Amino acid sequence: MQIAGHHALVTGASRGLGEAIARRLAAQGATVTCVARTADALAALADEIDGHALAADLADPAARRDVVARAAAAAGTPVTILVNNAGIDLTGHFADMSADDVERLIAVNVTAPAELARQAVPGMLEAGEGSIVLISSMAGVGVFPGLAVYSATKAALTHLGAGLRADLKGTPIAITVVQTGLITPTDMADSVRSYAPAAASFTRFRQLLPATDVDDLADAVTDAVAAGRRHVRRPRRAGLFPLLTEIPRRMTEILLAGVSPRA
Ligand SMILES: NC(=O)c1ccc[n+]([C@@H]2O[C@H](COP(=O)([O-])OP(=O)(O)OC[C@H]3O[C@@H](n4cnc5c(N)ncnc54)[C@H](OP(=O)(O)O)[C@@H]3O)[C@@H](O)[C@H]2O)c1
Repeated sequence: MQIAGHHALVTGASRGLGEAIARRLAAQGATVTCVARTADALAALADEIDGHALAADLADPAARRDVVARAAAAAGTPVTILVNNAGIDLTGHFADMSADDVERLIAVNVTAPAELARQAVPGMLEAGEGSIVLISSMAGVGVFPGLAVYSATKAALTHLGAGLRADLKGTPIAITVVQTGLITPTDMADSVRSYAPAAASFTRFRQLLPATDVDDLADAVTDAVAAGRRHVRRPRRAGLFPLLTEIPRRMTEILLAGVSPRA
């Protein structure tokens, strides 16, 4: 798709990867709605890129209700690119997590992306074009200590991508799943590495999983949206890992050729 002229909603745009993606989409001519909790950071970015700010806590069911419709109303045009980037890690030992930690991780990392996709699909179908990006992780493929629930949410997000692709087969909506190791410099990479067992794991894996630069990744994600690519995998040298776990999903897709996704 030609990015210029589209309305992109980017979650987690107040900093890190989301901010970098929002900047690139705007630079290529999209109207960008920036979503996160930190209202002043969103307002400053929206001002700079001539976009819109929508402050919302995506863990809160009431706050995420009608987010896509509110963004469309404010911008005067439907959301045709949805970048589900917002995420939290809450790295630490599983036994030390609170009930609220578990719920929050799942709400921000899985429930919100699925719900926002649900809200966005009708407008994309009506517009005749759409792109949904899911920022997953290599942690959804391999698991490191301190990241049990986080890794489970990212595995769920990757699987959600395959599910959306199955249900949206034959429609003009592209699904892009992004799977990376550490992304630097970001607050999340610092947070993960502040827990010694996770830091030791990344040190052990440093040859296979060197960190990916946040700006390079934002470029790759933007290019993938334009090209309608199914996956962005970084670092490339670790690409075999997600590829291996993709085989059953891909085989299922091939075996279901000709089965209509709609009753
Ligand atoms: N950094 C890494 O090493 C790494 C590696 C693989 C995958 N990823 C994934 O990449 C994505 C971006 O991560 P990042 O490194 O850019 O992290 P980050 O710097 O910590 O930024 C996270 C973003 O998510 C937003 N967010 C968090 N909780 C939210 C909530 N309840 N409601 C709305 N927005 C919320 C934050 O904004 P507010 O705090 O303002 O709400 C912020 O904009 C995440 O999905 C992450 O899992 C990161």
